Amino acid sequence: MKVVAGPSSQDLAHKVAEQLSVGLVESSWKHFPDGEFYFRFDEDVSGEELIIVQSLYPPQNEHIFELLTIAHTAKDLGASKIVVFAPYLAYSRQDERYLPGEAITSKLLAEILCRIGIDAIYTVDIHNLKVLEYYRVPAYNLVASPLIVRYFVESRGVSKPFLLAPDDEEAAIKRVEEASKALGGVPYDALEKRRDRYTGMIETREKLLEVKGMDVIIIDDIISTGGTAANAARISKKMGARRVYVGVTHALLRGDALKLMEEAGVDEVVSTDSVPAITTKISVAPLLREALIGKPQL
Ligand code: R5P
Repeated sequence: MKVVAGPSSQDLAHKVAEQLSVGLVESSWKHFPDGEFYFRFDEDVSGEELIIVQSLYPPQNEHIFELLTIAHTAKDLGASKIVVFAPYLAYSRQDERYLPGEAITSKLLAEILCRIGIDAIYTVDIHNLKVLEYYRVPAYNLVASPLIVRYFVESRGVSKPFLLAPDDEEAAIKRVEEASKALGGVPYDALEKRRDRYTGMIETREKLLEVKGMDVIIIDDIISTGGTAANAARISKKMGARRVYVGVTHALLRGDALKLMEEAGVDEVVSTDSVPAITTKISVAPLLREALIGKPQL
């Protein structure tokens, strides 16, 4: 088994190889002046089991095409097994037809990857678990929230926090539940959020939260504009929270997201290396190790 480092996740791929104690495949890639992608395996990969590490954060269309090129080339050259590790699986919010005639882009991506001939895909904190059903090969979601909350406890001295999901979707609840378990059963709750399908504007319903004098950690899969986390932070502060942290898996941080959250009372935002960002403090590489070969022996 060997790891292929995709252009979007070079550092993460090195960490994955380290965690799995396997080597990295020699490869080279570049973009031509007109933007087209060039990729080459610099060693023979026929008969080899490969893990392609390529997170699909913005510019997502570029990163997707890079992944398709690498996977297709691996298949074409006779790799015996192709596993994709795409911690941020782009287009997972376009998971169904919310308005008549809409494209289901997550399904399109799944169909192309399966047609190329990948054998399995692993992702982290996918927005909607239903997207995994579009894959005709084993597709797994890994949960990063236990790693994230442990970081706050171990590196920020946060003790007995209150965990808050900024919306009450199934995956969001699962994330706070898992994080709560990791900290021995700390309290948690979820807010109710609604999005206008035409304008994209969100509204979070205020709720009584027992957080007076407590540190709140808002757990979310994605921070894009920061609006969702800012709303949750404002409500937490109004309910008397002492400090408010945001622990997010995929920090896309568009525009003034960090400023927006800071103005809403957020003390710190911490994220994973699924998306390299100024807030990145945690690696998702151990999650893949755990999924493939189990937890490290202590
Ligand atoms: C959506 O429901 C997700 O779980 C995130 O809460 C959302 O994508 C965050 O987006 P934004 O930061 O733009 O509010």
